Amino acid sequence: MNIPRLNFAHLPTPIEEMPRLSEALGGPRLLIKRDDQTGLAFGGNKTRKLEFLVAEAREQGAKTLISGGALQSNHCRQTAAAAARFGFDCILVLSGEMPEHASANLMLDQMFGAEIVTVADREYRDQTLQETFDNAVAEGKKPYLVPYGGSSPTGALGYAFAMDEFMKQNSHADWIVFGTSSGGTHAGLVLGQRVFGYKGKVLGISIDESEEWLKSHVSKLASDASEKMGERIEFTPADVMATADYCGAGYGVLTDAEREAVKLFAKYEGLLLDPVYTGRAAAGMIDLIRKGFFKKDETVLFWHTGGQPALFADKYANKI
Ligand SMILES: Cc1ncc(COP(=O)(O)O)c(C=O)c1O
Repeated sequence: MNIPRLNFAHLPTPIEEMPRLSEALGGPRLLIKRDDQTGLAFGGNKTRKLEFLVAEAREQGAKTLISGGALQSNHCRQTAAAAARFGFDCILVLSGEMPEHASANLMLDQMFGAEIVTVADREYRDQTLQETFDNAVAEGKKPYLVPYGGSSPTGALGYAFAMDEFMKQNSHADWIVFGTSSGGTHAGLVLGQRVFGYKGKVLGISIDESEEWLKSHVSKLASDASEKMGERIEFTPADVMATADYCGAGYGVLTDAEREAVKLFAKYEGLLLDPVYTGRAAAGMIDLIRKGFFKKDETVLFWHTGGQPALFADKYANKI
């Protein structure tokens, strides 16, 4: 296997027990894998994906990284940091109104020197991203398009190898639970589960997509990523476990469930979640615990995917 990769993530990330949270919930044994500690500008799941994406950009002779997302995108913050670290220019196409004062992720994007293009309506983001890319090509900027959330087959490899890392840590878990949105983390874990022989279950809690879309998208992404590891494995939607029971409020809308999850992790374990992704994923896991979905003698591992800078975004800070 000769897959281009830049090794800059702080790996392996620790796995910790959450005994006080488990007791407070009357639930199963709870573990947490700290991918909020992967390094690269406050860490998060994109670090693992960017190890492969930035290496691919380099191989292709790119000079500019272009990506897109929401105004408070964690993915864009980490892409901008990777660009700064490895000497690329960076252009970010962000949906939302540019505020008078940039806070949190958006402020960090600017610190890393990214050029920011805003598009008021998310509906037109794809189009603006494509135009931005085409213009960069025409201007000789040699752009590499980092897909939304870093979720291409190349990016998904980060989480296939994360599963290998987890298996080598010899930490038993019957369930791996995490937030899923653009599907790269999910696809990588599903692929890694097959390749490295993880016997437990991998359950993605949807942040904003339907279960049907996730199952079909993640299985395709996992199949395509498998080719990069040497041999194509054909995954079907039935190979993907996902629930969309916790995303009804819409992307980035804080409800009592996310608020409670953020507070419980903080109060019982001194751990910080983010309002948009890990807060929602944890809220889903907490509800499943309360419903008795997991057996008492099982171990559930919550895979923390980062995102905490968003806690300090003007948009969320006073709502937590
Ligand atoms: C903190 C955090 N967790 C989870 C996700 C979802 O990961 P994925 O896009 O790979 O589904 C994201 C995506 O941006 C994120 O920022």
